[in-house]
Amino acid sequence: MQRAMQIELGRQLLSTLDERRTALAETIYRNPVSDYISAEQVALERRRFFRESPLVMGLSGDLPQPGDFITNDLLGLPILIVRRDDGQVNAFLNVCRHRGSKVAEGCGSGQKSFVCPYHGWSYGRDGRLLGITDHRAFGEIDRSAHGLRALPVKEEYGLIWVRPMPGEASIEPRGLLGGLAPELAAYGFDRYAHFETRVLQRRMNWKLVVDTFLEAYHVPILHRKTIAPLINGRSTVFDPHNGNLRMVVPRTTIDELRALPEDRWELLQHIAVIYVLFPNVVLVWQGDHIETWRVYPAGNGADESVMHVSLYTPEPAATEKARAHWDRNMDLLLRTVEREDFPLAEAMQRGFTSGAQDHVNFGRNEPALAHYHGAIRGALLGLPL
Ligand code: FES
Ligand SMILES: [Fe+2]
Repeated sequence: MQRAMQIELGRQLLSTLDERRTALAETIYRNPVSDYISAEQVALERRRFFRESPLVMGLSGDLPQPGDFITNDLLGLPILIVRRDDGQVNAFLNVCRHRGSKVAEGCGSGQKSFVCPYHGWSYGRDGRLLGITDHRAFGEIDRSAHGLRALPVKEEYGLIWVRPMPGEASIEPRGLLGGLAPELAAYGFDRYAHFETRVLQRRMNWKLVVDTFLEAYHVPILHRKTIAPLINGRSTVFDPHNGNLRMVVPRTTIDELRALPEDRWELLQHIAVIYVLFPNVVLVWQGDHIETWRVYPAGNGADESVMHVSLYTPEPAATEKARAHWDRNMDLLLRTVEREDFPLAEAMQRGFTSGAQDHVNFGRNEPALAHYHGAIRGALLGLPL
């Protein structure tokens, strides 16, 4: 985040706290329960959001060096993302052109080529078909037409977007981010190192996972024994940016700024910043590191989700001590959400199908929820974001 914006936000937060205010939407928002349980809606979401549109599928730190790669199977189709010799990132369908086996599993570093585990065909970092076992058996097969199938991909601001459908469409991060591009650029996410990624599966709609992060109203109640003493959940600042959004939550330490001249403020240490990178990524600035939640629909209906939870650190965790420190951060993050937020949200999901009500209410003090679900609805209707 740019320095000038930090000062401006710092002023806003302090006055918001002083006046016991919080960001407010114009009106309350009635969100239909069908948004979380409709099989037709999730089918449309799968197509619009999880096939036809670019998604943030990682940070540059996931694959810092040539030959580093990650895979993603959570969209229901296998994807391989790899850094080439020239430093560019490529994305492919992780499907062997012989008979369709996956050519890479999990993630790795410095991979020279990808050798299919079935019959040993091999592919380069750029996806070219390099070798065919017993090639004479395949006669004159055109190798240049049998490379891994490329997907549109773009790396910018330390983020990697992939469109999970082959085609020529180019990806324009600046447009996708709306007004957030300059502030995300200013963090220098490209310098952050990947620490760990976990996969979680839950019996709740994928948007309900995102909702978990979109208001701090629940923090003093649900998290009273865990994170409530660390943050001031009653005062937040919210700004929409097309479908995306930014919500800033002050830590209790923000009061330390009051004793300092503004030019000595280090606001980023005293806030958590929650970004939604529309539609399915929550990126959280945590004072000195980043977490990302990349969420996808799972199962056959609307009530299951699966997600990548990742933690990125300002320096690679090179020592035991550093690893122990970031392990503790990862544990705190998962413990809070897994013990407190998600069990409750899974019960909400069951409650949605109970017929108790046909809509839920987002209060004026929950503007990020209203914006997010309004943006989802608009995008599904084909309206511009
Ligand atoms: S399926 Fe890959 S080499 Fe046969
Ligand atoms: Fe929570």
